[in-house]
Amino acid sequence: MPPKDPHRQMEKLRKQVLGCRECPLHQQRNMAVFGEGPYESQIMVIGEGPGAKEDELGRPFVGRAGRLLDEMLEEQDLSRDRNVFIANIVKCRPPKNRVPHKKEIETCFPYLEEQISLVDPSFMILLGATAMKAYWGSLKEKVGDVRGRWITEGHRHIMPTYHPAAVFRNRSYRQYIEEDLKTIAGKYRELVGG
Ligand code: URA
Repeated sequence: MPPKDPHRQMEKLRKQVLGCRECPLHQQRNMAVFGEGPYESQIMVIGEGPGAKEDELGRPFVGRAGRLLDEMLEEQDLSRDRNVFIANIVKCRPPKNRVPHKKEIETCFPYLEEQISLVDPSFMILLGATAMKAYWGSLKEKVGDVRGRWITEGHRHIMPTYHPAAVFRNRSYRQYIEEDLKTIAGKYRELVGG
């Protein structure tokens, strides 16, 4: 068998996601949001799902929370242009930005699993409770209880932190996210260099 080509597989997956009709969320979407960033990124950021701006443009984290995320990543010399792949738990916008339902998450999750397997990042950042709970199944802890802590799965270092949108409700969360991103960037440079 010829060796697998992650780029080709990712492009195939992207097409699949853009045309997906597996759950009712596709009915109201303008665009499915696949994710973006270099496919060989060693860091993957996982959010909840597209909002209005993301749905309009077909790109993840391009609204207010996205600008804040970009700013905080850039403080650590990280960005979706260079070294971070950004994806979401669900690829289509839930109406009125509600939290995605369990069934929608379950239906969409295999796309994220394949993205994780193709990008194969050494670091994963889970933004907020939905990403955290969806990734680990049911989880009783709150983000505040586990943020900033490493969870190691095989060669992968995973850290939950607050969702950047939480900063608009409580400004003090910004410093926690910044602290966590600093920790992640430090370990990333230690292990991967760059
Ligand atoms: N919030 C998310 O969780 N994901 C996005 O893509 C945008 C906002």
